[in-house]
Amino acid sequence: MRTVITDLTPVEATALLTLYARALDNRAPRPILADSLADSIVDDIDYDFAGLGVQTSVVCQTALRAKMLDDRVRSFASAHPDAVVVDLGAGLDSGLYRVAPPQTVDWYHVDLPGISALRETLLPPDPRSHIVVASLAAADWAATIPADRPTMLVADGLFAFLAEPVIAGIFRGITERFPSGEIAFNDYGGIGWFSRAALKFYPQKMFKDVGSQWGYLGFKDAHHPQTWNPRVRLVEEASLAHADEVDLFPGWLRIATRLMGMTKATARKGRILRYRF
Ligand SMILES: C[S@@+](CC[C@H](N)C(=O)[O-])C[C@H]1O[C@@H](n2cnc3c(N)ncnc32)[C@H](O)[C@@H]1O
Repeated sequence: MRTVITDLTPVEATALLTLYARALDNRAPRPILADSLADSIVDDIDYDFAGLGVQTSVVCQTALRAKMLDDRVRSFASAHPDAVVVDLGAGLDSGLYRVAPPQTVDWYHVDLPGISALRETLLPPDPRSHIVVASLAAADWAATIPADRPTMLVADGLFAFLAEPVIAGIFRGITERFPSGEIAFNDYGGIGWFSRAALKFYPQKMFKDVGSQWGYLGFKDAHHPQTWNPRVRLVEEASLAHADEVDLFPGWLRIATRLMGMTKATARKGRILRYRF
């Protein structure tokens, strides 16, 4: 029987959008991420996914940023087979199953109660997987996560929904809790007035849902998180527009994305940032 979505909060429901985008990527003739588990989870949910109006550009960008984050988690886990991975705002993401780290790695999925309950129901059990039901706005969200192992924190599609003091609190808290590690996340390089207006007036349901939950307008200079916590150091700023996988985007989108990669200001509109501590 398919799972009916009954009581997700609007911010939790944004996880259905990214899940569906990865499922659509899997159905594309030339997938970027090829997440067949995302596709089968979508099949298991009774929900009007098509009504979200997810556009091809969102499908490609969501798949590509997940792949870029997977690559970074995979290399951290292969360098540190005793690693702990902490997926912040994990939603229904199947990163653990895509990355397939060694059995000695533990993967913690942190999210709010409604979407965490769905994860419990919909994702296959795995001895490496642990669910942490918590708000990242709470000071003790990491209390049940091991604090004595190399730690890779990853946040895909999360920070835009949090207020800056909450994000700064996460950055300060991780170096207090975990001995060493990295944090990697996707970022939009600062949301200007034009993008805000576009989110507000766009006819697609997807943009209205996401726009109403947007909490943080971001930053241009990738060093900005170091002002929240000087113990984290920027080690990578990678534009999606420069990734090889852009060659798999449909023609018009491939050209537009490559053009975006030609100036610093537009290249940072879709980027992966990584910091070490
Ligand atoms: C756009 S979804 C991304 C989900 C997942 N990372 C993915 O890529 O599919 C944003 C996620 O952040 C979670 N989230 C938002 N605010 C949160 C908070 N204060 N604490 C924990 N999770 C939060 C939402 O519940 C949702 O699952």
